[in-house]
Amino acid sequence: MLDTARLREFEFTDADFNSLRRLVREVAGISLADCKRELVYSRLARRLRHLGLTSFASYREFLASEAGQAELREFTNAVTTNLTAFFRERHHFDYLRDALLVPRMADPLSSRRIRIWCSAVSTGEEAYSVAMTVAETVPDWRRWDIRILATDLDTNVLAAAESGAYTLDRVRQLPRWQIDRHFVRQGHGEGLRYVVKPELQRMISFRQLNLTHPLPMRGPLDAIFCRNVIIYFDKETQRDLFQRMAPLQRPGDLLFLGHSESLFKVSTAWTLIGKTVYRRNEEPC
Ligand SMILES: C[S@@+](CC[C@H](N)C(=O)[O-])C[C@H]1O[C@@H](n2cnc3c(N)ncnc32)[C@H](O)[C@@H]1O
Repeated sequence: MLDTARLREFEFTDADFNSLRRLVREVAGISLADCKRELVYSRLARRLRHLGLTSFASYREFLASEAGQAELREFTNAVTTNLTAFFRERHHFDYLRDALLVPRMADPLSSRRIRIWCSAVSTGEEAYSVAMTVAETVPDWRRWDIRILATDLDTNVLAAAESGAYTLDRVRQLPRWQIDRHFVRQGHGEGLRYVVKPELQRMISFRQLNLTHPLPMRGPLDAIFCRNVIIYFDKETQRDLFQRMAPLQRPGDLLFLGHSESLFKVSTAWTLIGKTVYRRNEEPC
């Protein structure tokens, strides 16, 4: 049998893994299970090569030093998982349309001010899917006051998100009419990009935000997308996050979690009303 540990370019001891996972928990709230060991090795080996370091011990020393503080950001960027897609878990966008946008349109006296937060937006597809849902549902959305705040811990994915430029591979699952309506084609061959139209981009503000840190935004937020991120947090970190999120919403406001996430034993401030869709309760949490 092959001994993969001995074939490795860098020695990666239990002490290295445990110390690095303690650090990622401290910095990002992310709990890395034992099975993530190989993933952590392969992602961080790239950082070691980039920095010209020859061992994980020296990488740990570097992270602990003053000079290594900028590397902390690269370190967390490297170990986070950024998988996302346009209209991922499409039922959430349908719900947003039917439970928030359509009722507001139907009632001429209701507020035209809408605030939505995508709290772990990765490369941006989630926020642009919200913007497309708004533009496709509300004919005069340009005269409404609609803002989408899109945040993530990882500065690299945020830069990609802010550019709004996607390869064909990323947009290919969208129907042709939607691509034509919301994207502009730029470049060709390898450089071909589908760039989200500026009017949709203007609906969104991108900011770096660590969900384990204080939440600086002011509510009320009509809807929060907190999808496929709390799965990386332990229960205590999840409880703390939702305790800080709850005051940002009024009773009836919406919260969307990822397909394998739930508020069970985490928070009673929201009630489950659909598939991973929650409504903020009346009761104080
Ligand atoms: C799997 S992606 C989810 C993307 C999108 N919400 C979706 O469901 O398609 C998880 C994102 O959470 C971000 N993340 C991880 N820990 C975070 C933290 N402590 N604060 C903010 N974002 C975090 C990662 O950088 C990553 O972009």
